[in-house]
Amino acid sequence: MNTFGHLFRVTTFGESHGPAIGCVIDGCPPGIAIAPEEFAHDLARRATGKSRHTSARREADEVEILSGVYEGLTTGTPIALLVRNTDQKSKDYNAIARQFRPGHADYAYWQKYGLRDPRGGGRSSARETTMRVAAAVVAKKWLAERFGLTVRGYMAQIGDVVPRSHDWTVVEDNPFFWPDASQVPELERYMDALRKSGDSVGAKVVAVADGVPPGWGEPVYGKLDGELAAAMMSINAVKGVEIGDGFAAVAQKGTEHRDVMTPGGFLSNHAGGVLGGISTGQQVAVSVAFKPTSSLRLPVEGVDVDGKVVDIVTTGRHDPCVGIRATPICEAMLALVLMDQALRHRAQCGDVGVVAPRIPPSADG
Ligand SMILES: Cc1cc2nc3c(=O)[nH]c(=O)nc-3n(C[C@H](O)[C@H](O)[C@H](O)COP(=O)(O)O)c2cc1C
Repeated sequence: MNTFGHLFRVTTFGESHGPAIGCVIDGCPPGIAIAPEEFAHDLARRATGKSRHTSARREADEVEILSGVYEGLTTGTPIALLVRNTDQKSKDYNAIARQFRPGHADYAYWQKYGLRDPRGGGRSSARETTMRVAAAVVAKKWLAERFGLTVRGYMAQIGDVVPRSHDWTVVEDNPFFWPDASQVPELERYMDALRKSGDSVGAKVVAVADGVPPGWGEPVYGKLDGELAAAMMSINAVKGVEIGDGFAAVAQKGTEHRDVMTPGGFLSNHAGGVLGGISTGQQVAVSVAFKPTSSLRLPVEGVDVDGKVVDIVTTGRHDPCVGIRATPICEAMLALVLMDQALRHRAQCGDVGVVAPRIPPSADG
């Protein structure tokens, strides 16, 4: 299953160390102005090799538009996007080609297909997420133009370090997408020590969408929160997804959790902008837990394809914290879900129009 979405359908293809990766977007509305340069910003935010805290692989990540765009406008026909791989080092994977890295997808792929492409993790590599980010550039643009909708993300935890304050204006100024500039030196030291030790660490990313109109989401099997959970879970290394307060709701009382409505606006947003699987017009908020990177140079005893006990050591270039590059990927999946739901809402309920009363997202303005 390599296709995502119902009306805005994205199919991705390609492997980490193949000649290219790409996607086909089917169902895109016509008339969206899009140029190859517009993909550069988000792809650079996701890319490796930008700081010493991510994998040293350096990909150009240049998007070629092969179809679906004429004279700078989407035509409504399938949009094919291609990114050529330019910095593969397949020999890094000779050693583990016949071994199963604990915590990685090697064993599961082997059991499913009876063979696997070990180079860089093949299809299980997060290289694939490049194309999700590319497809979401088109979605983000349409959502912004049609609804003034914005999608943003930040890092909300690395290991046991949590932000002490939250300032959106600094998130893009550091390699961690961290919202508290004063903690960046501490994080640099933390990551340097981790890299030196050869170990890895988990992380939490938060993605939010502002300006989502009320009414998006398709009960009961196409709920907005349900699709968000599935979308985030489809990202490599994701182990948990929370909508709004998520698991914190377990310890809350109903009087605390319910988001009280006033004519002037909602008084809180514990629900994360979704009730009954449908957007309320509040900020849609999703938190995503990433596990620590499994490819480690610290040796571990494991099993190879012959069932023999072997020492497993992963060389090659790896992210010591996969969550560091994941913020744009979470944003992309949020945008793709919203784009698809927007088109589905328009298809079924486009004639319903604006229903009174419309409660502002927040009484704070
Ligand atoms: C941005 C990003 C970068 C990643 N980089 C690596 C990496 O360098 N080495 C690695 O072993 N896993 C990496 N992963 C995680 C693996 O792709 C993932 O753990 C593996 O495919 C197994 O799938 P699962 O963890 O979802 O079960 C990365 C994940 C993301 C989201």
